[in-house]
Amino acid sequence: MTETPAPKLRSRAWFDNPDNIDMTSLYLERYLNFGLSLEELRSGKPIIGIAQSGSDLSPCNRHHLVLAERIREGIREMGGIALEFPVHPIQETGKRPTAGLDRNLSYLGLVEALYGYPLDGVVLTTGCDKTTPAMLMAAATVNIPAIALSVGPMLNGWHKGERTGSGTIVWKGRQMMAAGELDADGFIKLVASSAPSTGYCNTMGTATTMNSLAEALGMMLPGSAAIPAPYRDRQECAYHTGKRIVDMVREDLKPSDILTLDAFHNAIVVNAAIGGSTNAPIHLAALARHVGVDLPLKDWERLGHKIPLLVNLQPAGEYLGEDYYHAGGVPAVVAQLIGQGLIQESALTVNGKTIGDNCRDATIEDAKVIKTFDDPLVEEAGFLVLSGNLFDAAIMKTSVISKEFRDRYLSNPEDPDAFEGPAVVFDGPEDYHHRIDDPSVGITPETLMFMRGAGPIGYPGAAEVVNMRPPAYLITEGVSALPCIGDGRQSGTSGSPSILNASPEAAAMGGLALLRTGDRVRMDLKAGKVDVLISDEEMATRRAEMEAAGGYQYPASQTPWQEIQRALVGQMDTGAILEGAEKYQRIAQTMGLP
Ligand code: FES
Ligand code: MG
Repeated sequence: MTETPAPKLRSRAWFDNPDNIDMTSLYLERYLNFGLSLEELRSGKPIIGIAQSGSDLSPCNRHHLVLAERIREGIREMGGIALEFPVHPIQETGKRPTAGLDRNLSYLGLVEALYGYPLDGVVLTTGCDKTTPAMLMAAATVNIPAIALSVGPMLNGWHKGERTGSGTIVWKGRQMMAAGELDADGFIKLVASSAPSTGYCNTMGTATTMNSLAEALGMMLPGSAAIPAPYRDRQECAYHTGKRIVDMVREDLKPSDILTLDAFHNAIVVNAAIGGSTNAPIHLAALARHVGVDLPLKDWERLGHKIPLLVNLQPAGEYLGEDYYHAGGVPAVVAQLIGQGLIQESALTVNGKTIGDNCRDATIEDAKVIKTFDDPLVEEAGFLVLSGNLFDAAIMKTSVISKEFRDRYLSNPEDPDAFEGPAVVFDGPEDYHHRIDDPSVGITPETLMFMRGAGPIGYPGAAEVVNMRPPAYLITEGVSALPCIGDGRQSGTSGSPSILNASPEAAAMGGLALLRTGDRVRMDLKAGKVDVLISDEEMATRRAEMEAAGGYQYPASQTPWQEIQRALVGQMDTGAILEGAEKYQRIAQTMGLP
C-alpha cells in the first residue's frame, strides 16, 4: 500500500535518497529497530514528531504521556508515522532558581531535534507556562508544519464550597498567614485544594494564557485550548490533532504561514479580553522575533489597552478553567471581538481555515463566566507600557487593579493619575523575604516597593517576585496591596497591580540599579511615566560610582547553562531570547538538508 507522497518530504533525505545510499542505509537500519518495516519507512509516509513535554518532573504536562497514544492513533489513521521524543522539562513552580531560565534551553534542544532528525511535521505538547512558548519558538525557527496540543487545565479546585484557584490561592493564603488567620497546616491544605487533578493551573495564569494565545495565534485546533485535562474531549482533541498534522504536512502549512503580524495582533487583543498574564508580552516578543515579525512592546498598549476584560477567571475574576471551557473558551471570546471589528479575520489557522471562519459564529454558553463586549467585567483591561529614568520599558496589568488601589492612588481629584511616594528597595527575593516584616525598614501605606536584581541576568531567567505583599503589620491594619515595581516578572496567577518586566534590568545597569531607599518616585499612569525625582547629575554620579565598584552585584552562576544564558540573553521588552539566535529563521527551508 502506498500513500500519495507529499511534495518535498524532508524525511526522504534520510530514508530514500538515491544520491546518498551509504547514509540512507545507515539511517534506515537503526530506525527499523522499533518495529517499522523497510516498506513503511520508504513508502513516502509523512514522519511526524510528537514533542513530548510530559514527564514525572513536569506534573502540569504529565497527562501528555496518556494523550500521546491518541495523537499516534490520529497520525496513523491518516497514513503518517509517529516518532515520539522528549523535550527538556520545565515545571514552573519546581525549577530552581527559575523556570524562566529553561525556556531558551528547551527551545535550543527542540530546534536541534526538529532540524537534525527526519521529521516532516510535529505535534507540540504544550501546557505549563514556559513549555508553550519554548515549543512554539522552536517550531517557528525550524518552520516545519507544526500544531500545538494543550494538555488542558486541571479541574476546578474547591475548599469549603468555594473555588480555589492555582497560584491565586497561594497569594491569598500568604496574606492570611501574615494576618494570623491561618496556621501552616491550614495553609498547605488550602493550597493543595486548588490542584485536584492532572493538568495545568486552572486560573488565568500564564499556562491558560499561553495556551489560549496559541489558539488565538492559529497554532491549535479551534476550541481546544480550554478543554480540561481529564475530560474525554481532551483525548478526542489529541486524536484530531494527530490526524490534522498529517494533512498539514501534505498541504505544506507551516508556522510562517500562520504566525503573521495579523496573528500576533489578534493575540494581543485576545490577551486583554481574557485578562492574560504579564508574561505574555515576553513570550510573544520572543516568538515574533524567531519568526521574523516586528512586534514592538508599545503595540500591547496601542492595540490592547482599550480592550475590556471579558473572561471572569481568577485572579481578575471568580471562576476557573472548567467554567471557562463550558462558557465557550477562546472562540466565544474571539467572536465577541470579531463583533467589534477587533480581529484580523483573515489570519490562517492550523485547520486550514481563517480565525474568522472558525470563530465568527461561536456563542457564549455561560454569561457569568464570559461577558459580552457591551457588559464587560472591566473596561480598558489591557496593559500599559511605562518608561522613565528608572527603565526604558515596563508593563502594568490594569485589569487587576483593586478598588482599594484605585481609591488610594488614582482618585486624587487634583491629579487622579499620578502618585508620588518614598521608595523602599529590595535586592532580589531573598532580601525581600528577610526584611519585609522588619518595621525598621520603614514601609508605610505611602511606600512604593521596588524589587531589583530579579531580571533575566540578575536572577537568571527572571524571577516571578515583583508581586510583593505588604508587611504583616500593614496587612493587619487593612493595607492589602502597595504599588510594586521591579525588573522581575510576576506570576500570571497574581492579582497584584505591579509595574514589572522593567528593562533594562539592574544587572544590565538600567536606572533601577541607581535607586536608593528613601528616594522619592513619581508614577503617572496617564503619561505612562515612572521617574525617580533626582537630578540627571545625581544619576550620573551614582552611575559612575557603581561602575567604578564593578557594577550592580548579583549572585554567581551555579550551573554552566546559567553562565551561558547570562552571556547571551536579551532583556524582557524584546523577549529575553538568546541574542543572535533570531538570525536562524525557517532553517528547514533556508539551511538546506544535512
Ligand atoms: Fe505548571 Fe501553573 S505551575 S501550569
Ligand atoms: Mg508563572
